[in-house]
Amino acid sequence: MQRSTEKSKLLLARAEQVIPRAAQTLSKAPDQFVRGVSPYAIARGEGCRVWDVDGNEYIDLVSSLGAIVLGYRHPVIEEAVVRQRARGTLFSIPGDLEVELAEQIIKRIPFIESVRFGMNGSDVTTAAIRVARAFTGRDHVAKCGYHGWADWSIATHPLRSKGIPQAVKELTHEFSYNKLDTLRKIFEDHPNQVAAVILEPVSAVSPEPGFLEGVRDLAHEHGAVFIFDELVTGFRLALGGAAEYFNVTPDLVCYGKAISNGEPLSVLGGRKDLMSVLDGQDVFFSFTYAGYLPSLAASLATLEFMDAHPVQKTLWERGKQMMQGYRTLAETTGVPTSVIGLGPHPIFQFKKPDGGDDLALKSLFIQETAKQGILTNCSNLVNYSHTEGDIQEVLSRMEEVFRVMAGAVNRNAVEASLEGPMIRPRSKPAS
Ligand SMILES: Cc1ncc(COP(=O)(O)O)c(C=O)c1O
Repeated sequence: MQRSTEKSKLLLARAEQVIPRAAQTLSKAPDQFVRGVSPYAIARGEGCRVWDVDGNEYIDLVSSLGAIVLGYRHPVIEEAVVRQRARGTLFSIPGDLEVELAEQIIKRIPFIESVRFGMNGSDVTTAAIRVARAFTGRDHVAKCGYHGWADWSIATHPLRSKGIPQAVKELTHEFSYNKLDTLRKIFEDHPNQVAAVILEPVSAVSPEPGFLEGVRDLAHEHGAVFIFDELVTGFRLALGGAAEYFNVTPDLVCYGKAISNGEPLSVLGGRKDLMSVLDGQDVFFSFTYAGYLPSLAASLATLEFMDAHPVQKTLWERGKQMMQGYRTLAETTGVPTSVIGLGPHPIFQFKKPDGGDDLALKSLFIQETAKQGILTNCSNLVNYSHTEGDIQEVLSRMEEVFRVMAGAVNRNAVEASLEGPMIRPRSKPAS
């Protein structure tokens, strides 16, 4: 396939002069892709396809880290946003859509009694922790997974916790997914001091039977608030996210991404007695763009669209189709790779025999998929615009990717086959 990435290279050179790490989001940084081969920047998107600044077309498997759930420039959402823009984006007192969206969310998700809005996931995960601390009068937090860039959350990051005060780090404790004992130990080490237990309900792997219930029960037994971070799973696994899918109810829940198809919005919701902490005079959660109206309009339109279309069911089907095809390619070519995760979030894995990440093979995969017009960072979040035919096209394009990888593996020349530097380790801690 004839393709040029000249404009990407020039734009990246300019970016490096003015933007640290040349990106606003770490997982979009050029060092997560193969420089010179992968595109640096995207110019436009439509459905499940995007075009880079050189005009190369890609089937996008990442869907803006899951923020795009229906598709780029989805006509229904676009229309709702344009309509709202014509009325105004933000006012000096609440906009009229705030109540409407709050009611629509509460109507759909039975355990939510009241909600507040944010823009990014970090806004609401951090608000959830503040509410839990204010409610319990305790300071410590037990967490599992990634919850955004705030100090309390990044305190346990294995690579990037510089800049966070030691005093803050001492209050956050990481427990391991599917290992209840690691959570139990945190409660033993900090009796009556843990305010909140927050976790991503689905990690790279699924919860073992009883794990989520066990986390809930331990949290409650020890008087801590039980919080689901459903930034990825909300409105994706099921309309009511992992809570609905696994039938485990948190005290507080955090949503974002899929709730508004690419317009910035996050939501904190849950039990009224907890949420009413935010009614008081002594807890602060407030910022200029909370209630940004185009986002609320997009979310109302997204929810309405989800009522009328089998969105989540389709995400499962497309993801499973891709996982099945990927497994077949790996088996038939003998390339040491696997795919894990659930249908709506399939993750391609490249592991060395010692269990560590095989960044060289992952880099080669990312390089070759880019050449074949597939945009992936290996953490795939399919969207409703991916048709069965699109996934089939991805799998056919991947035949060449696997052929190249198999050749490189057999010749022991994976690194030598890279046309740019190897990707850097992911910013997210493995959970
Ligand atoms: C599970 C989870 N929680 C929280 C966040 C933070 O959201 P944001 O980057 O919008 O602040 C993310 C972002 O990827 C996430 O995946």
